[in-house]
Formats: sequence, C-alpha cells, structure tokens
Amino acid sequence: KPVPVLTIDGPSGSGKGTIARLVAERLGWHLLDSGAIYRAVGYAASMAGLDLSDADAMTRCAETTKITFRDPKDGGETRVYVNSHDSTDELRTETVGAVASAIAVIPSVRAALVDKQHSFRRAPGLVADGRDMGTVIFPDAATKVFLTASADERARRRYKQLKDKGLAVTLMSLLREIEARDARDAARPVAPLKPAPDAVLIDSTGMPVNAVVDKVLSLIHPA
Ligand code: C5P
Repeated sequence: KPVPVLTIDGPSGSGKGTIARLVAERLGWHLLDSGAIYRAVGYAASMAGLDLSDADAMTRCAETTKITFRDPKDGGETRVYVNSHDSTDELRTETVGAVASAIAVIPSVRAALVDKQHSFRRAPGLVADGRDMGTVIFPDAATKVFLTASADERARRRYKQLKDKGLAVTLMSLLREIEARDARDAARPVAPLKPAPDAVLIDSTGMPVNAVVDKVLSLIHPA
C-alpha cells in the first residue's frame, strides 16, 4: 500500500506552512516544506555570487546544494541547514523568496529537486506544502487542498510573521512583492501555481487557524 500523502498548495501567505505543520503534528505524519528547498537553492546561489539567470549554473547549484531539515527536540520550529549551516532565519526573508521564485521558473532546476522531494514520502504519511505538490510532485496523493486567501490578508499575515522575526518591512511593499511573486508563480509554463483538478479549494480569508486545520483533517477522515 502506498504511503498516504496530503498536498497543500497555494500562493504565498495563504497559511499553507502553518496549516501543513499543524495537520502533520495532529496526524503524526512527516512534513515537506518544498518552498524551503527552492529558497535554500536560491540562497546558496546568491551567497556564491552566481548569475541567477544562468540556467546551467542554477541547475548545478540545485544538484549540489546540501539541504537538510532538522526537527528540534524541544518541539520548536524545524531548522533548515544549507550546506551544513543553519540558515532558517535567512531563508525566510522576502528577498530570498523572490530569488527562489526567479530560479523556480527554470525547468532543469525543478527537475533536479524532484527526487529530494519524493524522499520525504515515508510511513506513516506525508503532508507536503508548496505550489505543485498535487499537480506535479505527488499527483497520486489521496487528498489535495488548494489554500487561498485575499491578497490583503496574505500580505498582512506575512507582515506579522516577518515583524515577529524582527525584520523591517512595510505592508505596502510586501503587498506589491507578494503580488509580483504570485503572478510569476502562476504564469510560468512549468509547474505553475494552480489547483489540481481533484483539489479541494479552501479560502481561509477570515478563518481562524484551527478552523482551517479541522476542515483539512475532515477531508482525510470524512465524518
Ligand atoms: O512557499 P514559499 O514562499 O517558501 O516558496 C518560495 C518560492 O519557491 C515560491 O514563490 C515559488 O516560486 C517557489 N516554489 C515552487 N514550487 C514549490 C514551492 C515553492 O516553485 N513547490
């Protein structure tokens, strides 16, 4: 029997990261934050001073960058290591998000990261969040969610997240950056941001986090 997968795709700030983590905790399943993988490659490329528009260099970077996730014993957030350095905080900035989105349009970069993402599928189950989890990476997933929220609400959530981390941002610039990144993610020819035909759409605008978690869990354990 294949290991069950729940995919949660959606635009930035839709809350997929938070929802995926909480649902994985409740189910006792593994978690794949695929955005962190694209961010890690983009970050490694920037740090190395590589030309982000050089598809071959970016593909080599995707193939060779060592990306590891470590669950803290104290139950805090997952740490992400890029070439053995804890880069969790650096990866979260909107600058790295924009770099990730720029290199994510390169088909050979995406292809280089497929096996890595598949390797997260281990018993008893996997919750995978990203843009193409239900459409490209795990098309056979039994449960697929496409999570959205209004652009205003997504910008406000990201604003709060970044503010809480002590990062200097303004709501207006964040809204513009998020809209630009979403437009690029949705318009790219390879693995664009779009719901799988069999995905359940959830608009989380104005919904408390626990209500979204319950809704997602109800799709796995239908009442
Ligand atoms: O989800 P997150 O904001 O961390 O993702 C950063 C960027 O990585 C996205 O804007 C998108 O361009 C890219 N990405 C992707 N496919 C995924 C996850 C993220 O192209 N499955």
